[in-house]
Amino acid sequence: MHLTLHNQTAIVTGANSGLGRGIALAFAKAGANVVVNYHSHQDQADEVVALIAADGGQAIAVQADVGEEPDVLALFDAAVKRFGGVDIVVANSGRQDDAPSADMTLAQWEGVLKTNLTGQFLCMREAVRLFRKQGRREASRALGKIICMSSVHQRIPWAGHVNYAASKGGVHLLMETMAQEVAPEKIRINAIAPGAIKTPINAEVTADGGSPELLKLIPYGRVGKPEDVANAALFLASDLADYVVGSTLFVDGGMSLYPGFEDNG
Ligand code: NAI
Ligand code: BGC
Repeated sequence: MHLTLHNQTAIVTGANSGLGRGIALAFAKAGANVVVNYHSHQDQADEVVALIAADGGQAIAVQADVGEEPDVLALFDAAVKRFGGVDIVVANSGRQDDAPSADMTLAQWEGVLKTNLTGQFLCMREAVRLFRKQGRREASRALGKIICMSSVHQRIPWAGHVNYAASKGGVHLLMETMAQEVAPEKIRINAIAPGAIKTPINAEVTADGGSPELLKLIPYGRVGKPEDVANAALFLASDLADYVVGSTLFVDGGMSLYPGFEDNG
């Protein structure tokens, strides 16, 4: 079977930057129409749309804060209005606002949970509602596909980032629970758990190929690229993954293999 997203439409949240940008470009190359969501930096979203158009694809940029219900409803409305329906939703938006637990403000805690966990829930819920409403579409075996952007920190505790780790731990069971709930309707929900991928979120530690401390945590010996994650997303979104339901695909160069135990323990 050939990997194609032809005649399908994908919403990718946070697609103006980093992993979302890479996924939007890869999906368009595979033939999908892409809704490039952004929160701020419209210029970056417009650039992604222009790159897709220059390559012969179709995309629109839509502003929305994924933590705000009316924004998410408007995002889906815009997608349907422009492309007539949606086949794939990548709930990718996320952010860090780090502090040691004892110094973390309630605003830091709630802010990260709102974007990273509530934001994914709102997008997933709208996706399920829309997949049901629009019914079977010809381009894919599934009624619809959802990909959550988790992190190795759904499994690896991360001191100094308790809000972020809690949000990704939440994404883990949010994904599995909804996947169990809607799989009988042929809606496939899966997640990607990236390790350290060079994007603006971790620009400091991934500069110049990665700090020596970071590289010690990656058995495969290199920092990841957005393409590494985009390739996994392509697979999960395509019919090649038609029997993959409720899985988390770790794309981390082995970071989750406890490399500290390599010659210890
Ligand atoms: P990034 O900072 O380049 O991108 C984050 C994106 O989320 C941006 O487009 C930003 O505008 C968007 N965003 C933030 N708040 C938003 C809101 N309220 N509404 C809508 N969009 C919002 O960072 P990156 O690395 O591309 O992050 C993407 C996802 O990947 C995040 O969920 C992050 O937690 C996850 N991730 C990243 C890893 C990495 O090493 N880069 C590793 C594991 C997970
Ligand atoms: C974080 C990155 C970090 C990576 C590995 C991701 O979830 O957003 O900042 O480099 O995990 O620790």
